Amino acid sequence: MNVLVTGGAGYIGSHTCLELLERDYGVVVIDNLSNSNPKSLDRVQELTGKQLKFYEGDVRDEALLRKIFAENEIGCVIHFAGLKAVGESVAKPWEYYDNNLNSTLMLTKVMKEVGMKNIIFSSSATVYTATNEMPLRETSATGGCTNPYGWTKYMTEQILSGIAFADKAWSVCLLRYFNPIGAHESGRIGEDPRGIPNNLMPYITQVAVGRREKLSVFGNDYETHDGTGVRDYIHVVDLAKGHVAAVEYTVNHPGCEVFNLGTGTGYSVLDMVHTFREVNQVALPYVITDRRPGDIAVCYADPAKSAELLGWKAEKNLADMCRDSWNWQKNNPQGYGE
Ligand code: NAD
Ligand code: UD1
Repeated sequence: MNVLVTGGAGYIGSHTCLELLERDYGVVVIDNLSNSNPKSLDRVQELTGKQLKFYEGDVRDEALLRKIFAENEIGCVIHFAGLKAVGESVAKPWEYYDNNLNSTLMLTKVMKEVGMKNIIFSSSATVYTATNEMPLRETSATGGCTNPYGWTKYMTEQILSGIAFADKAWSVCLLRYFNPIGAHESGRIGEDPRGIPNNLMPYITQVAVGRREKLSVFGNDYETHDGTGVRDYIHVVDLAKGHVAAVEYTVNHPGCEVFNLGTGTGYSVLDMVHTFREVNQVALPYVITDRRPGDIAVCYADPAKSAELLGWKAEKNLADMCRDSWNWQKNNPQGYGE
């Protein structure tokens, strides 16, 4: 079966293309390269020894989507393409709503016309309201997002579940990711953020490699075991394997299902710093600063539903995540751009 992967040149997309090829799926990618480098796809092909098909272009381009569906027999779509920087979404709300919502609307319009109605969507733990008890279950309250990025995820969930409700031939799988970090163990593909990283792990690796002076730990007065924020970090290879499991589930189960993709375990910022230093034997200077506005103290998943219905569980631990993140960064100090 061929899987159309939108945003397949990106961080999670490239790792998922690799796992799909390893499992003998045909892979067709559409990506406008607005936040990625096509070298990621070259390296996926090099690592697997298999070819994929790449269309450079925008998911909002109706003619291109028609061409892709005409030229390839697609059995399932994984929709990663989207803008994802929380702070930027506050500054550029129109661009975020346009890109993230119109891409989904155009994609599902063309899918409906060609009669291919299986779609997996990259949602986020950010759709859960901040007042929930931990761990977060798929039934926990959603909404009350604090930024346009979060709203685009929430709204896309509404759009896709509404489509599946109205037409029972659709099969929609909404995957809520927790905090993806790490890289393929080869060190050939990984996360390559543009500009100053917003997220913790890419900031840590850039400090360790000497691109940044020190890490700022955003607050040590939270109600957690050491006062720093706690998150459910998940290895990107585990996450990619979760998508392969989701393809198998989606093509066999019409309707709409939501799944958490997390490990179920939370680690603090200082847990991350200490593990990174120990596993990699590198210096990692940090200072404690004020809390980052909008941050919550603790966030972690209950992954039981994914284990039960997808037959998927994260297998890699924090040491694996720290080792593989560093292996990628030290072998590619400037990401794909060197
Ligand atoms: P990424 O930026 O590395 O990948 C997204 C890819 O989509 C990029 O290659 C970009 O060029 C492409 N793209 C963006 N808009 C496009 C468009 N209109 N047409 C074609 N291509 C387009 O991000 P990622 O970390 O791999 O995330 C993938 C998805 O998962 C995103 O939807 C993101 O919001 C979601 N997600 C990511 C995280 C995370 O922490 N990385 C957490 C939760 C959800
Ligand atoms: C961020 C996004 C969230 C998104 C998620 C996954 C914000 C406000 N939220 O959440 O919408 O779904 O990424 O992509 O951006 N930290 C530091 N120093 C740093 C960076 C982070 O101490 O330089 C801390 C944070 O305060 C937090 C933890 O590290 O406690 C993880 O931060 P981050 O990687 O940005 O992820 P989230 O806060 O979960």
